[in-house]
Amino acid sequence: MRKVFYKDNRMVPLGIMLLTIMIFIYHFELDKETALQSIPSSLVPEKLVGEPQTGEEKNNRIVEDTIEAVIQPVHEAAVPSPTTAIIPETKQTTPSSVQHAQSKPPKTPQMDEVVLMFKTGASVLWKRVPIHLATTLSPERIDPNNVLLYSDYPETIGPWDFIDVLANASEKTRSSDNFQPYRLQADFNARQNYAELSNTAGDGPGLEGGWKLDKYKFLPIVQHAGRTKPDAKWYVFMEDDSYIFLPNLVRHLEQFNPQEPWYLGSLAWIHGDYFAHGGSGFALSRGAWEKSFGQDPNIVEKFTAYTEEHGCGDHILGHVLHEYGVEFGETHGDNRWTYGFNADSHWGTWYDQNLWCEPVYSWHHTHGKDVARFYKLEQAWDLEKKGPLRHRDIFHEFVAPYLQPRVEFWDNWSSKYDIRSSNVANVEPPSTVKSPEVFRSSWKSVDACEAACVSWAECVQWSYYEDRCKMDSAVLLGSGIPEGDARRQTSLPWTSGWLKRRIENWKCEEK
Ligand SMILES: *[C@@H]1O[C@H](CO)[C@@H](O)[C@H](O)[C@H]1NC(C)=O
Ligand SMILES: *[C@@H]1O[C@H](CO)[C@@H](O)[C@H](O)[C@H]1NC(C)=O
Repeated sequence: MRKVFYKDNRMVPLGIMLLTIMIFIYHFELDKETALQSIPSSLVPEKLVGEPQTGEEKNNRIVEDTIEAVIQPVHEAAVPSPTTAIIPETKQTTPSSVQHAQSKPPKTPQMDEVVLMFKTGASVLWKRVPIHLATTLSPERIDPNNVLLYSDYPETIGPWDFIDVLANASEKTRSSDNFQPYRLQADFNARQNYAELSNTAGDGPGLEGGWKLDKYKFLPIVQHAGRTKPDAKWYVFMEDDSYIFLPNLVRHLEQFNPQEPWYLGSLAWIHGDYFAHGGSGFALSRGAWEKSFGQDPNIVEKFTAYTEEHGCGDHILGHVLHEYGVEFGETHGDNRWTYGFNADSHWGTWYDQNLWCEPVYSWHHTHGKDVARFYKLEQAWDLEKKGPLRHRDIFHEFVAPYLQPRVEFWDNWSSKYDIRSSNVANVEPPSTVKSPEVFRSSWKSVDACEAACVSWAECVQWSYYEDRCKMDSAVLLGSGIPEGDARRQTSLPWTSGWLKRRIENWKCEEK
C-alpha cells in the first residue's frame, strides 16, 4: 500500500484529504473519554492470578522419545512433584472462587505478551506446518506479530514468512558434516527438486538428514526471538509436530514474574544437565533471556564447539542457560518440571489418577488430525467458566470413545503385571486383588485375563496373547492393527480390553 502511495502522484491529494479527516476524527475522539479505555493491556501492571497449586506426588510415566533426548521417568524421591513445593513467591494464594467474586469482567489471558517461537525444517515443512497456519497460528488466537517462524530455509506461505535461522551460522559450523543438508538445499532448489517427499509427481527422495541440522537451531532461535521482540514477557517454544494449549499455558505463566529467570517445561536430562524437552514445548521468561542472551551477544559463537559435540538442541540450550545461571524448573534449579508439557502423543501417554486433574499444556508427536481436533476443543472451551483444560478432558474427548470392553489386534502396552505360564509361580498378586487364584490363572485364556483384571480393584486395562496376560492400573490407548494391515498376517491377535467404568469413576484428588 505505502509503496503505491509514494509512487503514484495522483494519490497525494487524496492522501492529504484522508489524513486531514483522520486527524479531525482523532481529536474529536480524544475530547471524549473513550480514548482512555484503550490503554494496551501490556501497560497495565501485571496482575497475578491463577489457581493455587497443591497436589500429591506424581507418578509420571513417559514413553521414550526416539529421536530427541531420551526422556526418562524421573525418580520420584529425587524430584518431588512440582506442585507440592513450587509456590513461587509471586503466586497468589487466594482460591479461584474468591478471585472470581472480586473481579468483575473475566481476565483474558495476556496473549499479547507472549511470543511464540515455532520451529520447523525444510524437509518436513510442507507436511507438518500447513495445519498450524489454520489452527495454532490463526490470527484470532495469537497476533501474527507475536509469532516467529523458524526454519532452515526461507519460505513464504501466504502472509507467513519462515526465517532461515541458520543463515548467520559461522564458517566453522557450516563446514560440519552435519551441515550437508543445509548446503545442498540451494542445489535442490536450482534443479527443481523438492526437499520433501509428498507422493506427488516430481518427488525425489527428498533431503535427508534434516534432523542433523536441528541442534544448531536452538541457540539462534532464542537469541533472535529475544532481540526481535524485546518487549515480550514470555517466549514459548514449540515444534511443528506439537500442539500447545496456549490459553491454558498463558494462564499458568501468569503465576510467575516474567522479570525473574524462568525456564519451564517437561524435564529431560543428558550429561547431568536438566533441560526442557523441545518436543514438549517450553516457556522462557524475559528475565531468563536477559540473564543469558541479553548479557552475552556472542553466545551462539561461544558454544559452537559444544553444539558440534552434542546431539540435541534442546539439551544444548538448557546447558547454555545453566551456564548463565538460568536453571530449569519451577523452583529455579530443583529440577521441578511443569506438569502438562507432554513428551508424547495423547494416545501414547499413560493416564492415571494423579494426572487426571492436572492442566494440559502440550502434546508431542501430533498428527495434523490431532492438531485440528485439539484446536477445535480449545476454541470451544470456556476457560473462565470451566478452568483450564485438564488431562481428563482430553481423555474424555479423544481417548474414551475408542476404549472397548474387548478388541482384537490392539496394542499391548499394559505392563504393571505381565503374567505368563513361565513366570506365574513368582507372581505376587497385589493386596487389592479379590481372588489371588483368579489373578494367578490369568495367563490361561482371554476370559481368564479379563477376569483377573476385574478381580484386581485398580485394574483398568488388560491385554492377552498366547499364554500371557498383562494388566495395568493406568490407561493408555495405543492403537490397533486395522483390517487388511499386513501386520495381521504375522501374529496371533493380541486382545485388549478396558474397564471403562472404573476409569470414569476416577476423581480429582482433594487439593
Ligand atoms: C542474521 O544477521 C542479520 C544481520 O545482523 C540480522 O538482521 C538477522 O536477524 C540475523 N538472523 C538471525 C536468524 O539471527
Ligand atoms: C507386543 O508385545 C510383543 C511381545 O512383547 C512385542 O514383540 C510386540 O512388538 C508388541 N507389539 C506392539 C504393537 O507393541
